[in-house]
Amino acid sequence: MNIVEIIRNKRDCLELSTEQIEYFVKEYAYGNIPDYQIASLLMAIYLNGMSEREILDLTIAMAKSGEILDLSAIPGIKVDKHSTGGVGDKVTMIVMPLVASFGVPVVKMSGRGLGYTQGTADKLEAIPNFKINLELDELIRNVKKIGIALVTQSENIALADKKLYALRDVTGTVESIPLIASSVMSKKLASGADKILLEVTCGSGAFMENEIRARKLAETMVKIGNMAGKETIGVLTNMNQPLGRFCGNALETKEAIDTLKGKGESDVIEVCCVLGAYMLKMAGIGNNIVDNMKKIQSKIDSGEGLEKFRELVQRQWGDTRVIDETERLMTAKYKIPVLAEQSGYIEKIETKNIGQAIINLGGGRLKKEDVIDYAVGIEVEKKIGDKVNAGDVLLHIYANNEDVGKEQVEFLRNSYKISQEPVPKIKAILDIVENENA
Ligand code: URA
Repeated sequence: MNIVEIIRNKRDCLELSTEQIEYFVKEYAYGNIPDYQIASLLMAIYLNGMSEREILDLTIAMAKSGEILDLSAIPGIKVDKHSTGGVGDKVTMIVMPLVASFGVPVVKMSGRGLGYTQGTADKLEAIPNFKINLELDELIRNVKKIGIALVTQSENIALADKKLYALRDVTGTVESIPLIASSVMSKKLASGADKILLEVTCGSGAFMENEIRARKLAETMVKIGNMAGKETIGVLTNMNQPLGRFCGNALETKEAIDTLKGKGESDVIEVCCVLGAYMLKMAGIGNNIVDNMKKIQSKIDSGEGLEKFRELVQRQWGDTRVIDETERLMTAKYKIPVLAEQSGYIEKIETKNIGQAIINLGGGRLKKEDVIDYAVGIEVEKKIGDKVNAGDVLLHIYANNEDVGKEQVEFLRNSYKISQEPVPKIKAILDIVENENA
């Protein structure tokens, strides 16, 4: 096998064989192929794409490059959920306890925040003492005992993806659908669940700003998951504005708890009910999505979702007092309003800027090693379609450093576009992507 020939083949738009893909993934993971040759290959993939078969082969080769978790000791159908990331997306903390309250085993491995999106692992760590790193045997014990574990992803999963992702990051090859799809799905296949639900975010606060590309990514991942033998469904969600009211780690944890108490924002509830309904369907609890949505809502109304969250926090050593007294979660010293300078209707929000402001406030990471301030964040008062008068509050900034907080005011004000004409509200769910052969 010759890496130069593999690069030439991809450069000339030829399909790579399964053996060629296995070879470059394995040898790169072992350090036997230098970065410059893989960088060249990644650029050829970026420019010329990959067939479905090639993407599947790449996904499987990357999954096999690390540990493949064996969750077979947990009885029942295990449905995993993955989000491609957004601003204010606290859905995992809400939907997973709700689904677990039906007796569906929930094992969810979540990432930490990087860049303008936050990660569920950090949000849960905003709960004092919450232990997010569990060994596999502890995780399995917890799921057998209480039906749910929310943990960080094992460091040993899809090792080749870690190296390839770092190289893509510095070679302008991140935004390739075959590379994103194989990267996400390799980790999902290695995580041991039986079925996969994907929340594919789309809009100004997402990786995929454009709906055509988001849909293509969702279709590709759904196809790859199903070809790999794991039923996979994608839900396209709208990230043209933050989801819910709060963005920032502790603030989102508080919002998740409030939602489980029945005090949620309508867009958060809608996304949780739709995602939960598909998870129930995949777990064999009812095929009718509208009925399943009502079932999910009933677990909010009865408080069973909240009680499952309480069990989870207790089992993972967190301080359960935060559930009844959310003011025990860290709060920032300063609350700074951002006021509208003109009247009209909110037409557009540069949602990424809200994520960026949270990084500027110290609540997000630019590098994996960065330490974060859980308390800082943003409260969104006005969303697309809302009427505003000059002087109304668009957002509140929660800061621990007043100067840094004030520095975000103009930046955030300019992230809102106000129209003189009425603007319709936007939908939270854009579409469902299922396997066309299902
Ligand atoms: N998330 C991933 O895990 N991989 C990508 O390539 C992009 C987003």
